[in-house]
Amino acid sequence: MDTTSVWRGTASASGFAMLNGDVETDVLIVGGGITGVTLAWLLARDGRKVALLEAGELGGGSTGNSTGNLYETLSHGLYPITGRWGSEAARQVATLRRATIDFIEGVAQPADCGFRRCALHLYAISPKHRDEIALEYAALGHAGANVRMDIGTRPPLPQPVGDVLVLTGQAQFQPQAYVNHVATLAAKAGAQLHEHSRVIELDHKARVAATATGSVKAREVVFATHTPLGFHVVQAEMPVHREYGIARPLTGADPGPGVFWYRGDDGLSVRTFDQAGQRYLIAVGQENKLGVHNAKASLMALESTVAKQFGPGEVAFRWSAQNYRGADGLPYVGRDASGCFMATGFSTDGLVWGTISAQLIADELAGRKNEAAELLKADRFSPVKGAKAILDENLTAVKSLVKDYLTHRQQEKLSSLAVGDSAIVEAEGESLATYRAPDGELFAVSPVCTHMGCKVHWNSVETSWDCPCHGSRFRPDGTVIEGPAIAALGRKHLNLG
Ligand SMILES: Cc1cc2nc3c(=O)[nH]c(=O)nc-3n(C[C@H](O)[C@H](O)[C@H](O)COP(=O)(O)OP(=O)(O)OC[C@H]3O[C@@H](n4cnc5c(N)ncnc54)[C@H](O)[C@@H]3O)c2cc1C
Ligand code: FES
Repeated sequence: MDTTSVWRGTASASGFAMLNGDVETDVLIVGGGITGVTLAWLLARDGRKVALLEAGELGGGSTGNSTGNLYETLSHGLYPITGRWGSEAARQVATLRRATIDFIEGVAQPADCGFRRCALHLYAISPKHRDEIALEYAALGHAGANVRMDIGTRPPLPQPVGDVLVLTGQAQFQPQAYVNHVATLAAKAGAQLHEHSRVIELDHKARVAATATGSVKAREVVFATHTPLGFHVVQAEMPVHREYGIARPLTGADPGPGVFWYRGDDGLSVRTFDQAGQRYLIAVGQENKLGVHNAKASLMALESTVAKQFGPGEVAFRWSAQNYRGADGLPYVGRDASGCFMATGFSTDGLVWGTISAQLIADELAGRKNEAAELLKADRFSPVKGAKAILDENLTAVKSLVKDYLTHRQQEKLSSLAVGDSAIVEAEGESLATYRAPDGELFAVSPVCTHMGCKVHWNSVETSWDCPCHGSRFRPDGTVIEGPAIAALGRKHLNLG
C-alpha cells in the first residue's frame, strides 16, 4: 500500500546529496525532521560549522506525516500539565508555544509553506468527555490564552455534546514544504545537509558517526531522531503510539478553516488543506500502541468513521506515523548521560516542541540563557509526576517480552506462506520473522529487536516489523526504518530445497 502523506505527496523533493567521505565538523545533527533542520539553520546562522545526516529524505519521519497544526495547548490538553506541574508551568508552556508559533510564522511567511492563522475548536461528542472541555477551558484561561466557549458546530462536523472551546490565534502549515524551506535556509547559511545517510555506527564518547558511505567526527552530537539512538533511560518512560491519517478531495460540505478536535469513541482531528486548486479534507484517528494493534483494521476504522461523518469519498492519501510521549507530559531536551543532546517525548505536539528544542539547543551551545531549559531538561526524572505512565509503559514492555518468549504467535509452515503474508515460524531450529513479498521472494529475519531484545510484530499497512517496547521498526529484510535500534535484524537465508 502506498503510504505517502498528503504533505510529502504534494511538496517538491529536497534533493540533498548523500554523505561521501569523512568529515570533521563542530556539530553533528542526526535526523532531518523539523527539529534537526531548524537547529541546523540556527547553528549555521550563529556561525557554527554543522553537518546534518538524514537516514531517508528530510521530513520523511513524523514531521512530513503529521497533521501540520500549530497550537499553544497540547493534544492531551494543557490541564494535565496544570495538574502535574502547577499553573505557573502550564502558563509557561502556553506562552513558550505561542511565541514559537509567531517564530514559525516569521520563517514561513516569505515562502509558500501554506501557513495560515486559524482557531482551534475542541469539543466532546460523547458525554464522558464533556468534563475535559471544561477543565481545558479553565487551564487555558489561567495560562492567558485567547479562549472562549461557543455553541454548536458547522455541518458536516459532528455535533457537540456540550460547549465548543474555541482557541483563537492558532495556525496551520504544510509541514513538508516548511522543512524543505528551512533546509534551504540552513544550506544557504553554510550547513552541510545529507539525505540517504543513515547513521549505522555511533561512538558516543569519541563523537564519531558512520554511515555506509562516510563518517562525521564532531565536537557536539545532537540526536534529532525523534527518539534518541541506542539506550537511554527516557526510553523506559515513553509510551510509543502509531496514528493513521487520510486525505480526501473535499466533495461535500466544507467544515471551514481551523483545527477541529472532537473527543469520543469516533473522535478525530480534522482540518482542510488547499493545493493546486484542490481542497482536501484531512483526518487523523486515535492513537494505537505500537506493535500491539492491527494496523489494517485501524486504518479501515478511520476510513469508515470519516465516511460516516462526512459522506462517501475517494481516499487520495493514506499514511501513518508514531509519537513518543514524555511520562510526565513534557518533552526531554538537553544533554544525555553521554553528553550528547537529545530532543524527544513530543507526543503529537512536536512541530512546536521540535522548534522550541532547536532554539534551546542552539542557545545552550552559544551560551545563551533559554527559558525552556529548566522545564524540559533531559535528565529530569520525576517518578511522582509520571508514575502511572512509566508503570503502564514498563508493563507493556514486560508483557511483550514474557508473552513473546513463552508462546509462538503463529506456527505456520513456510511452504504455506502466501504472497503478501507474514508469520513468526520455527525453521532450521530457530524462531524467524518471515514475509513473502509480492514477487515471491521470501524474507526471514530474527524476530528479536536489536535494541533491547523484545520481539517484533507485523505491521500489515506498512509492511514492517514493529517493536512494541520502545518504537523500533524494521523492513522485511531486517534493515532499520526508525526508532532507537541502530543495528538491523539478523537476516537468515533459508535453504528450502
Ligand atoms: C499522525 C501524527 C500527527 C501529528 N500532528 C501534529 C500536529 O498537527 N502538530 C504538531 O505540533 N505535532 C504533530 N505531530 C507530532 C510531530 O509530527 C512530531 O513530534 C515532530 O514531527 C517530531 O519532529 P522531529 O524532527 O523531532 O522528528 P522526525 O520528524 O521524526 O525526524 C527524525 C528524523 O531522524 C531520522 N533518523 C532516525 N534515525 C536516524 C539515523 N540512524 N541516521 C540518520 N537519520 C535518522 C529519521 O529518518 C527522521 O527523518 C503528529 C504526530 C503524528 C504521529
Ligand atoms: S525498541 Fe527497544 S527493545 Fe525494541
